[in-house]
Amino acid sequence: MANGLFISFEGIDGAGKSTHIAGLAQAFQAQGRVVTLTREPGGTPLAEQLRALVLNEPMDALTEALLMFAARREHLLQKIEPALARGEVVLCDRFTDATFAYQGGGRGFGLDVLSKLEHWVQHTSAPTSEEAADRIRNPDLTLWFDLAPELAAQRLSGARVPDKFESQSVDFFRKVAAGYAARMAGAPQRFARIDAAQERHKVWQQITAAIVRRGYLAIMVASNSGPA
Ligand code: TYD
Repeated sequence: MANGLFISFEGIDGAGKSTHIAGLAQAFQAQGRVVTLTREPGGTPLAEQLRALVLNEPMDALTEALLMFAARREHLLQKIEPALARGEVVLCDRFTDATFAYQGGGRGFGLDVLSKLEHWVQHTSAPTSEEAADRIRNPDLTLWFDLAPELAAQRLSGARVPDKFESQSVDFFRKVAAGYAARMAGAPQRFARIDAAQERHKVWQQITAAIVRRGYLAIMVASNSGPA
């Protein structure tokens, strides 16, 4: 049985992750892998209910961070861990880096508290010792779609009714982007930075190159123009 593979997709709103996630799912399926496509906050019925609250209701920054991690705990236990145990490829639209970027960078919430929550929520076995408590589930690879906040705002404008985060200022997204950069600096081997300002087919090439380089896909996908 193939080993489970966990890939997350990150970036500020408007960076253009969505079509590429679908394209990557097809590429893995074409190579015989079973793919679980999922997202955060959300991914299970309860976590999707939390998503509706957290994306639409005004709330204090700690409440927001706690709800993100509550949804994540549910998502990990009910969906992500079982899929990885079955040897599937889990493609997750956002994960914990988003909490560090949005609640940490954007809202200015303390990173030490977020780190504690990350450890509590993502430990993979009951912590019987400090060492066990330190084993936390993180993606094998995180594709960070890096785009200047001004460009992202242009792409988002007029697209649809914005949610609580999408309607934030360019300045907020600058802080979110700095939060992502700090997360990447802390775990450079886990991240691949994608220059999301490029044309779509070039973005797709960067993504497949990062994945092939790590041996997760055996060959380049036949089409080099990316998902339709
Ligand atoms: P997004 O992933 O952009 O979904 P859609 O494309 O359907 O709008 O929306 C999720 C929003 O939630 C996004 O603005 C980032 C925010 N978010 C956080 O603030 N913290 C988190 O931990 C996560 C997972 C998301």
